[in-house]
Amino acid sequence: MRIWTKLAALVIGIGAPLHAETLTLASPDGRITVTVSDDGGLATYAVSYEGEGVIAPSRLGMLFAEHHGFERDLAITGSARAAKDTTWEQPWGERRLVRDQHNELAVTFAATTGPARQITVRFRAFDSGIGFRYELAEQAALQGDIAIVEELTQFGVGEQTTMWYTPSDEFNRYEYVTRSGPAGKVDDAHTPATFRNPAGIHFAIHEAALVDYSSMSLGSLRAGNFEARLRNWSGGPKVKTKAPFKSPWRTIQVARDAIGLINSDIILNLNEPNKLGDVSWVEPGKYIGIWWAMHIKDRSWGRDGIHGATTAETKSYIDFAAEHGFSGVLVEGWNIGWDGDWFNNGDLFRFTEPMPDFDLEELGRYAQSKGVRLIGHHETSANIANYESQMEAAFDLYQSVGVRAVKTGYVADAGDVVRVDDKGLRRYEWHDSQFMVGHHLRVVEAAAKRQIAINAHEPVKDTGLRRTYPNWMTREGARGMEFNAWGTPPNPPSHEPMLAFTRMLAGPMDFTPGIFDLRPNERPPVRADIPRGDPSNRPQTTLAKQLALYVVLYSPLQMAADLPENYEARMDAFQFIKDVEADWEESIALAGEVGEYVAIARQGRKSKEWFLGAVSDEKARDLSLPLSFLEPGKQYRAQIYRDGADADWDTNPYAIVIEEKLVAGGDTFAVRLASSGGVAVRFIPVGE
Ligand code: NOJ
Repeated sequence: MRIWTKLAALVIGIGAPLHAETLTLASPDGRITVTVSDDGGLATYAVSYEGEGVIAPSRLGMLFAEHHGFERDLAITGSARAAKDTTWEQPWGERRLVRDQHNELAVTFAATTGPARQITVRFRAFDSGIGFRYELAEQAALQGDIAIVEELTQFGVGEQTTMWYTPSDEFNRYEYVTRSGPAGKVDDAHTPATFRNPAGIHFAIHEAALVDYSSMSLGSLRAGNFEARLRNWSGGPKVKTKAPFKSPWRTIQVARDAIGLINSDIILNLNEPNKLGDVSWVEPGKYIGIWWAMHIKDRSWGRDGIHGATTAETKSYIDFAAEHGFSGVLVEGWNIGWDGDWFNNGDLFRFTEPMPDFDLEELGRYAQSKGVRLIGHHETSANIANYESQMEAAFDLYQSVGVRAVKTGYVADAGDVVRVDDKGLRRYEWHDSQFMVGHHLRVVEAAAKRQIAINAHEPVKDTGLRRTYPNWMTREGARGMEFNAWGTPPNPPSHEPMLAFTRMLAGPMDFTPGIFDLRPNERPPVRADIPRGDPSNRPQTTLAKQLALYVVLYSPLQMAADLPENYEARMDAFQFIKDVEADWEESIALAGEVGEYVAIARQGRKSKEWFLGAVSDEKARDLSLPLSFLEPGKQYRAQIYRDGADADWDTNPYAIVIEEKLVAGGDTFAVRLASSGGVAVRFIPVGE
């Protein structure tokens, strides 16, 4: 082996070190191993799980426009090891206490030709995966502005490895039905991308702590071998930076079973601790809103006779929220700019000017008098220049009327984000570019100054920055419920059990569950000249599955998305939405397979009651779930909302059985999920 590596180094040529160095790092439980090498003058890493390959030896490195980079002729010149085992507390989240247990290896590669320069790659191995990032210290060869033109990180996943992903280079940003197939046939993919290799090992590639850098997608280099692709600035490089800098962490979660990917905290653990100090003003909760009415054409955002955001309509939503225990009411279409083609008229939005029929001050006061808060809305149509020029005043205004959370929106095709440069020229950027990564943090910081939380739609993907900025609570970044009003096609039955193993690995999602009228486009139109959408656009789920989504798809701001009148018609099922919490003491994925089904249990942070949600794809299935999360032997009243015996998303979606049973911790809970069905359960301890 030694002789072979020496020979290889000689064959590869001048500048390659004579003695290849190989370093290894193991996870605390010893199952995951990372191997780092400078064999042949190339910086590489490989990952294995219980001795089986997960990532084949793959390149590391970086190229710059005007400086010598790190591509070949590299030698390991130093390494340092560390280990950590601490537990930290989240102000809100899927679990209150998060254990950060990892081993670390920082490897320094120096160039053996050209100007003297070095780069460190810091690896951390956790029991549920690994992370690594580049760290560039200030040094003589890397002075001044640095333009990254290529990150050379590769991921050799294998041609035959099954991959679940959304495409990264198409117009609709992250909003695609998840695709699957052999990795060798995939051209480009957003992360998180999820994989199962022929040995049955599951893994997911993503990134953590995306700050002042372009977002990473996966581009096929050769079949089964992806490279990290960064987004270009318009007319510029991929990343503009200066030494010293640190790249985001590249993460590879690894587990034997699919649910191991969900039961992992490495994305959060690789982010910096809370920078905002006291964040007791960041309030998880459930909300309703003047929202679905627009998507199903009951109401409109603009002034065409059916404007939704009127003072009277908002008051009636506030009354409903107060009566049923919701903490927020989202109102879209409240400000000037929505008339006409708002998708393409981002210049027109005024974020401090309400429509004449919307009394913002009065509604802020009215809401608070009822123990409710308005949730603000800033649709920008991705015109960042227009938004940033008004943003500070806009948050001031919302703060003055008691708003504690704002939903932002960046509707525009991918690559059509408007930036005005320092010469006053209009430039078009990507939603996942370094520019937008910076913009989102500017918004989050401006909002934090006014004790306001952010829920971003058409966002950049989540990389765990909620740990550092706990007011960045949730976001969209995948196909949400709205696709069931007008999407072509609507979300398929596999969509939610797919999201659980893909998009949700990144962090919370404002999916907006809870549609009770499952054929919304079959309602008579509110006006003859405003036809409903295509009736085949409808949630392809049973009613019980809509309830289960409150447990399965985590969001600390969780919407009950349907019209109040549709809840009033089904108060029995609505009771679960009233009871379920949006903030958790603990969360455990119990069972599931990617895109087929998933069962998750969560314990409420306030009530300490456990909730269970399980959802299926189009296949009906019997589940036997261990109630191992309950206290052993202790009795609970299980309030169960399950599919009726003849339920089926297509032909009989409303068949639901709502029943109460006594169960004990450690029992097995057997339940049948219908085709695209689900089950939602609340466990109330007996005698407390
Ligand atoms: C797209 C968002 O996802 C949706 O929730 C919102 O209603 C519209 N944009 C309008 O802002």
